[in-house]
Amino acid sequence: MRKELQKIWPEIEWIEDPELKEKVYQTWEYALEQSVLSPDDLTRIPFTLLVKDCQVTFMEHKRAVVHIAVDSARAMQRFFGDKLPIDMDTLIAGAILIDVGKLIEYVMQDGQAVVGKTGKLLRHPFSGVALAMRFDVPDEVCHMIATHAGEGNLVKRTVESLIVHHADFMSYEPFKPETLKI
Ligand SMILES: [Fe+2]
Repeated sequence: MRKELQKIWPEIEWIEDPELKEKVYQTWEYALEQSVLSPDDLTRIPFTLLVKDCQVTFMEHKRAVVHIAVDSARAMQRFFGDKLPIDMDTLIAGAILIDVGKLIEYVMQDGQAVVGKTGKLLRHPFSGVALAMRFDVPDEVCHMIATHAGEGNLVKRTVESLIVHHADFMSYEPFKPETLKI
């Protein structure tokens, strides 16, 4: 599983702290073991069921979020320096883990991945935290999983969580039908 995971998620290697990196690997591996989806499926299925005929795959979306978050954080560090400390390892680990709960949201129905009962009752920000806590992922990273989506608008986000939240929505909202297309 580790080899397959490294193939779809080369960005996990960007995490410098070996302990944190291992926890991220273990959380993803465990989630894949529990999931109806294989690593290969993730490179093919659409990243959202909310956009009709979505052409962007789960992994294209996921990896774009990590790259956008890291590039944004680097630009912020260039301009704000010590005035806005950003923990890059936390940022990267969080960006990689925010949607790990989606792996257990899906069930197979007529050969198609759809959101099942567990996914409806416990959206992936909740199930993702449960998965990550099994492997002692630090609270700062679990916070990012918990707050990355709409639920997080009700609480205060850390700087790392804010950046990843916006990177996530930047990679999602342009595909929504509400986006003005001329
Ligand atoms: Fe999400």
